[in-house]
Amino acid sequence: PTIYVITPTYARLVQKAELTRLLHTFLHVPQLHWVVVEDSPSPTQLVRNFLAVSGLTYTHLHMLTPKDRKLQEGDPHWLKPRGAEQRNEGLRWLREKAAAAAGGKGLGFESAVIYFADDDNTYSLQLFEEMRYTKKVSVWPVGLVGAMKFERPVVENGKVVRFHTGWRPNRPFPIDMAGFAVSLNLVLANPEAWFDGNAEMGFLESSFLQNLVTMEELEPKADMCTKVLVWHTRTEKPKMKREEALIKQGLGSDPNVEV
Ligand code: UGA
Ligand code: MN
Repeated sequence: PTIYVITPTYARLVQKAELTRLLHTFLHVPQLHWVVVEDSPSPTQLVRNFLAVSGLTYTHLHMLTPKDRKLQEGDPHWLKPRGAEQRNEGLRWLREKAAAAAGGKGLGFESAVIYFADDDNTYSLQLFEEMRYTKKVSVWPVGLVGAMKFERPVVENGKVVRFHTGWRPNRPFPIDMAGFAVSLNLVLANPEAWFDGNAEMGFLESSFLQNLVTMEELEPKADMCTKVLVWHTRTEKPKMKREEALIKQGLGSDPNVEV
C-alpha cells in the first residue's frame, strides 16, 4: 500500500532545513507519496525548486490560513490550531484524485494510508512499516510531547482501553497528530471527516478522528504501543541579532543566497 504523507509547511528561516531533514527520511521509505501543502497564497519558488530535485514522488499544494485563524506575532503558539486548513486541502486533493480514479479502483488507492507529518518532527523508518497495513486507524506512542517523555494509547488484551497523557485524558482522542494514520478508504467512506480549524486547544486531532472511529476500533502498532518511533521535536527559532546589526551597516548576508 502507498502511504500518502500530508505535510503542512510555512515560510520561515528554518523551513528549508526542516524540509531537507524530512525528505532525507522519506527517501528511505518505499511507496511514499509526499503531499506538501504550503500555508501561502500561492506556491513559493523555494518549495517548488526543492521538490523538483527531491527525487521523491510528490504533490505540491497550497492553502493560506485565513487571517482570523492564524497566529499573530506575540500570540502564544498554542492559541490557534496550526496546519488545519493545509491538512484539509491535502484531504480534498486525495478525495478528488480517488473519485477521478473511478471509485478508487486501479491506481492503488483502495489500500492506501494517510499520515499527517508535520515538518518539524522526527520520524523513524520503522514507523512507516508499522502504519502501512492500517485497516481503519492505527495508533502508537509519540515521544517528547505534551510536556511528558511520551504519550501513548494504553493497550490491554490487544485493544486500546485508554490513553497515557497528562492533560485532559477525557478528550475523545488525546493523541498528537504524529500518533495515528488512517486508511484512505475510511476517509472516502466518511466525507464529513475534516479538521476543525476552530478547534479548541488539543481538540484538533479529535475533530477529525471522532468522525472516523471509536477507541475500541483503534489498531495499536509499535509492539502494542510500547515503542517510541516518532518524536514531537520543535526547532528553536534562530537568532538574527547580528544579521540585523549588519543589515543596518549595509553588510547583511547576500539576499540572493537561499537559506
Ligand atoms: C502540535 C501538533 O503536533 C500539531 O500537529 C498540531 O497541528 C498543533 O499542535 C496544533 O494544535 O495545531 P506544534 O509543534 O505546536 O504541534 O505545531 P507546529 O509544528 O508549529 O505546526 C504544525 C504544522 O503546521 C507544521 O507542519 C507547520 O509547518 C504547519 N504550520 C504552522 C503552518 O502551516 N502554518 C503556520 O502558521 C504554522
Ligand atoms: Mn511541531
